[in-house]
Amino acid sequence: MDWGLKNRLSRIINPKTGKVVMLAVDHGYFLGPTSGLEDLKKTLDPLIPYADTLMLTRGALRTAVNPDFNIPIMLRMSGGNSIVADDLSNEGITVSMEDAIRLNVSGVALSVYVGSEYQHQTLLNLAKLIDEANRCGIVVLAVTAVGKEMTRDARYLSLACRIAAELGAHIVKTYYCDEFEKVVNTCPVPVVIAGGKKIEEKDALKLAHDAISRGATGVDMGRNIFQSDAPVPMIKAVRQIVHKKASVDEAFELYNSLKKKRKK
Ligand code: R5P
Repeated sequence: MDWGLKNRLSRIINPKTGKVVMLAVDHGYFLGPTSGLEDLKKTLDPLIPYADTLMLTRGALRTAVNPDFNIPIMLRMSGGNSIVADDLSNEGITVSMEDAIRLNVSGVALSVYVGSEYQHQTLLNLAKLIDEANRCGIVVLAVTAVGKEMTRDARYLSLACRIAAELGAHIVKTYYCDEFEKVVNTCPVPVVIAGGKKIEEKDALKLAHDAISRGATGVDMGRNIFQSDAPVPMIKAVRQIVHKKASVDEAFELYNSLKKKRKK
């Protein structure tokens, strides 16, 4: 691995703990003005100091993030579809590597849809992006998107993560599932989990805790942070789990106490 790539990887994944709290706010690329992200800058400003890495689109980066903020960027590079389409898997590459470099990103992210109609196309998108990223020393995060017809179980997610890693992704993002250790143990690169739909805060903390204790390198969490009643206390509680090995109860207690203080 060359110096630039290693350096970017160490900006994304904290070398002291070997873990990452990535804040995902890229939802607008196919969902439009997602609840909690209508005014992206207002949502992001208080959260950025507590995120190790920020995952978003180039439009969001340019319009909602102060370039003075020294936060590593994971830029979403795939898209071309919307929630009103029948099949979300028909994605292409939407940003050039030249523009990603101009934006000084640490990593680029792209979704693959294993088992879907456009599996072949999205896997070739990933391979192409990895070739370009390798030339520039940029980290590639493969997102294992799951079509409606797929089951989020260890068998399917292991398949999708392993294929992404075999194609050369440096980090894979997937969903938590029963027997999650099987997914991690058969994937040769770090695995981070998406949070998924908004659930109760304690349940989201348990999800993060279960994933970390079964081998995840971190979380790439969005809605369970920015749609929380108290986003800053929530991201701080997630950090305690990811970086400090806090229990679910300890993290939830922290969330509640910070939330209470905030209201005073
Ligand atoms: C989904 O396609 C996006 O990449 C999101 O970044 C991802 O789903 C993580 O966000 P959440 O925790 O809200 O699921």
